[in-house]
Amino acid sequence: MITWKTGKAPAKAKQLNFYIKDENKISDAINIAVADNDLNIRKLRRVFRKAVSSAKVHKAYTLSVDISALSQLLPSYDIATLSFELLLQFELANYAFDKYKSKKTPKISTVFVNGADKKELKRAQDYAKYILHARDLANTPAEDMTPATLAEEAKKLARKDKKLIAKIYNKKALEKMGAGALLSVGKGSPHEPKLITLEYKGAKKKSYDLAIVGKGITFDSGGLDIKPAGRFADMNQDMSGGGAALCAVALAAALRLPVNVVAVVPAAENAVSGFALRPGDIIKTMSGKTIEIGHTDAEGRLVLADGISYAAKYKAKMLVTVATLTGAALVALGQEANAVMSKDEDLSWALRQWGQETGDYCWPLPLWDEYSEIMKGTFADLKNIQNKGGAGDGGTSTAGAFLYEFAKDLNSSFVHIDMAPRMTPGPNDDLPKDGGALGGPVALLVELMRRKV
Ligand code: BES
Ligand code: ZN
Ligand code: ZN
Repeated sequence: MITWKTGKAPAKAKQLNFYIKDENKISDAINIAVADNDLNIRKLRRVFRKAVSSAKVHKAYTLSVDISALSQLLPSYDIATLSFELLLQFELANYAFDKYKSKKTPKISTVFVNGADKKELKRAQDYAKYILHARDLANTPAEDMTPATLAEEAKKLARKDKKLIAKIYNKKALEKMGAGALLSVGKGSPHEPKLITLEYKGAKKKSYDLAIVGKGITFDSGGLDIKPAGRFADMNQDMSGGGAALCAVALAAALRLPVNVVAVVPAAENAVSGFALRPGDIIKTMSGKTIEIGHTDAEGRLVLADGISYAAKYKAKMLVTVATLTGAALVALGQEANAVMSKDEDLSWALRQWGQETGDYCWPLPLWDEYSEIMKGTFADLKNIQNKGGAGDGGTSTAGAFLYEFAKDLNSSFVHIDMAPRMTPGPNDDLPKDGGALGGPVALLVELMRRKV
C-alpha cells in the first residue's frame, strides 16, 4: 500500500500537477489534464488513475500532490471527496497481481499530500485494503484457490479481527443440511465444496441488517456442458462474488460500522469428470424445491439457491446475492455496469445512485413475474435454464428470477447483483493489465450497510 504523509515534500518527490488550461503547466512536474467542463465523478476517478500511470512512465515513485490547489481548480468537489477519491484511485491503479512474478511491477511508494482531509485519506486506505484483497482472491489461479483455500481465507480474515467470526461447513455437514444443489455442482471435482460464512456484529441488537450471498465457483469449466475453447479465460474469477462478500464484511468490521452483517459463500469447483452433474439430472435443494438440470454451465444459480436458503436463518432485513452469473449481463451492459435486479424497483434505482457514488457502477434490469414463469420446470419445480441447450433471451433476468424463487418466502427485501460485466476491468477503467480482477462491488455492499436499507 502507498505510504501517505502530510507536510512538506522532500526534494526527491515529484510534483503531480493538475491543470485545466495549458498555461498552468509546470515544467518539472508531472502534468495531468482534467477536463475543462463536465468533470463528473466518473471522469475524476479516471483522471486520478491516469495520474498513476503517468507517474510510472516518469519512474516517479515518490509524489507530492496539493489537494487544496486541486479543490480550487474543481470547486464543485469538496476536500473530503477529493482526498478520498484521490488516494483510493491511486491505490487501485497502483496495484499489480505480481506475487507469482520474480520481478515485481514498480509501484508508487509514498505520496506527500498537502491540504487533504486526513480522516478521508485513512478511510480511503481502509477501502483500498479490502478491495485489493478481493482482487488478490479473484486473481489467484484456481489450482491455488480451491473451495478449501477460500474457506481458509475467511478464517484468516477472522483471525485478524476479533469482531469477525468465520464458519466452514464441509461436505459431510452439507449432506446433513441437505445442500443438494451445492453438492451437485461440486461433485465432479476432487476439491470438495464448502459453505463459508463470515459474521460481523457491530450493533448491540440481535437481528441482522444484511446477508450477502456470494457465488464462490473457484473454477467454472461449464461442467459436462463444457465451455468452448476461449471461454475459460478468467473463470478462476468465478468466485469474485464470494470474495467481494467476504471482503465487504471484513471492511465493515475494519470501519466498525454499527451494523450486523453476514457473508454466506457457497464454494465449489464446476469440473468435468465421470462424477459430474449431468444434463437431465434432477436435484433437491436445501429449500426442498427440486431443479431439473438443463445446462451444467448454469451452476452459479444452483449454488446460490442453497446459499440463500442457508442465509435465511439469519432473518436479515435485506438479502443480496452477488455473482458473476451470466454472460448475458455482459452482452446487455458491456463492461461498464453491474446489472441489478429487485422486486422493489425503487431499490434498484437507489442502487444505481449508490453505484455512481462508490464507483461500483450499476444499472437495473427487470425482475418481473413473467421471468419466473419461464423458469418453471417440466419434471421438477424449476429448471436451471429456460431452453434446452442454449442460454435463451433475457438470460440475466431469468437467472435473477430463478434466485428470487428461493428468496421470495423470506421476510427480507431481495436484491440481486450480476457482476459478470464488472469481473475484470474494461478499457474505460484505466487500470493496468497486471492488476487483473476489478474487486467490485465491495464498496457498494458497504454502502448498503452504511445506509442500513
Ligand atoms: N460464470 C458464468 C458467467 C460468466 C461469463 C461470468 C463470463 C463472467 C464472464 C456462468 O456460470 C455461466 O456460464 N453462465 C451461462 C449461463 C447459461 C448456460 C444459461 C452463460 O452466461 O452463458
Ligand atoms: Zn457456468
Ligand atoms: Zn459460473
